[in-house]
Amino acid sequence: MNYPFWDVDIGYGILMAVIAVVHVFVSHFAIGGGLYLVVAETLARRNSDTLRLEFLQKLSKFFVLVTVVFGALTGVGIWFVIGLLNPAATEMLIHNFVWGWATEWTFFVIEIAAAILYLYGWRTMAAGHHLIIGWIYFIAAWMSLFVINGIITFMLTPGDWLQTGAFWDGFFNPTLWPSLVLRTGVCVMLAGLFAMVVASRYDASDFKARVVRFNAAWALVGLAITVVSFLWYWRAIPVAITAAAEEMMPSVIDSVTNSYWFAAAIGAMAAIFGLIFARRQHLIIAIVTLAFGLGWFGYFEWFREEIRKPFIVFGYMYGNGVELSRADVMAREGYLGGIKFRTRNDSADLFRRACQSCHLIEGYRALKPAYDGTDTAFIAGTIRGTGAIVGNMPPFLGTMEEAAMIAAHIYERIDKRHLGEIYGVNGVELGRIVYDIRCGKCHVFGGYNDKAESILGLSDQEYHDLLDMAGELSEEMPAFTGDDREREALIVYLKSLSEGGTP
Ligand code: HEC
Ligand code: HEC
Repeated sequence: MNYPFWDVDIGYGILMAVIAVVHVFVSHFAIGGGLYLVVAETLARRNSDTLRLEFLQKLSKFFVLVTVVFGALTGVGIWFVIGLLNPAATEMLIHNFVWGWATEWTFFVIEIAAAILYLYGWRTMAAGHHLIIGWIYFIAAWMSLFVINGIITFMLTPGDWLQTGAFWDGFFNPTLWPSLVLRTGVCVMLAGLFAMVVASRYDASDFKARVVRFNAAWALVGLAITVVSFLWYWRAIPVAITAAAEEMMPSVIDSVTNSYWFAAAIGAMAAIFGLIFARRQHLIIAIVTLAFGLGWFGYFEWFREEIRKPFIVFGYMYGNGVELSRADVMAREGYLGGIKFRTRNDSADLFRRACQSCHLIEGYRALKPAYDGTDTAFIAGTIRGTGAIVGNMPPFLGTMEEAAMIAAHIYERIDKRHLGEIYGVNGVELGRIVYDIRCGKCHVFGGYNDKAESILGLSDQEYHDLLDMAGELSEEMPAFTGDDREREALIVYLKSLSEGGTP
């Protein structure tokens, strides 16, 4: 790695998630809020609705504060974090899209300036000018989404860029448009749901009913755009990516199905409490509906990140910053030579380089539970076979010696007691655990790379033979290095499955 590193105790993924989630919520709020304010202000002025104008003025204070303070702070925060967590990918994105970023920042500056003018112009500006400033605020905000959306979608579907390396091929990539419409829908929905929270605090009145109804209708339009464009988005993702996810990460695919329940809940709550019982809309209900909205959007962002695994830029760079084009060189020369910032502890440096962007030994995506009670030979075997482990990981591209060094680093930090002691079990139960730890990461019964057909219904002798030659079945499969007690338990367990036991 050509950069200094930073060890984060809570794990890279969590740190990124916390800052990024706050930032995307806030930034989408700001964009939808801009549109909401100008449209609602136009209507209110047309009807000389002073109550409504007061409401909007109040709302704009929040939107502007949120955009300027939180949006800007977390936006800068994201740059710090991605630069520290994945410098290689950050550098690559900056180099490829330098004019894109410059354009995005220009729009952001315009957005901030217009937002501040809009806020202070309520009392001092002529109505027409105020509205023009409002439109500038919204359009600049949306344009910055337009630009950044091109770069974010590029990371999942770089399209022709992989061959041409051309800016426009990367920017106008296969998921650019569906994602843009989807995010615009999210902006609209969140603004409506938030305005509903503010309106719900009014005492029951005709005015309240009118504003709540407007907000609910607004949110429902956003929701409808989001739901429909998600289907479009899903279809724009190459089938190879979704098919691999279905095999390797079924939970990610399930989450898509589950997300429709979220959408249904948001729709039902907005319709029932926002349209039908608008007059009595309650703060708590409005907050719960908003929370569903944020939850659903967070889910989408998570899905988008997960389905990209094991890549940070699909088909170009792995999540740990290793470029695909350097895979051959690395397999020959190893990782170590390419690490500029060394700590004189090679094993730790290797672990940082190969695993730490996605795992800590304890805590974030912990490796300890997967390795407790095992041995260095097994750990090294799974490192050479990371590409075969369920969950869609990058393949290990270092040398055999490097795998052994990482294994030693991990082994130092795990529980060295026997699996039977760690889990306090024996017999079939111990066998189940031996299977989970020593086989189940790569062969899931009834799921990913299921080997039931080859490993159920064998005789004792056949089981012993299979375990004796386990290391020869594939370069990516470790030898069986458990002791006799583990071996006997595993065989008893597999035999119990042959007789109809449950995995
Ligand atoms: C780009 C991200 C990434 C990198 C780099 C990575 N992994 Fe993983 N790993 C994952 C994901 C995602 C899973 C699935 C985790 C889950 O299902 O919770 C996983 C799962 C695992 C599992 C199974 C865990 C379990 O409890 O079932 C092991 C063991 C593992 N990784 C070891 C490693 C080792 C060792 C390295 C470094 C040589 C490494 N991984 C590098 C993303 C990564
Ligand atoms: C790190 C991943 C990994 C682990 C752990 C692992 N395997 Fe495998 N296994 C593979 C790979 C990769 C192959 C070869 C490609 C294939 O058939 O999927 C394979 C092949 C096999 C095969 C032969 C192929 C066949 O269809 O007959 C059997 C049997 C098998 N594994 C059983 C086991 C058992 C039993 C364990 C636990 C003792 C185990 N594996 C642990 C990755 C793993």
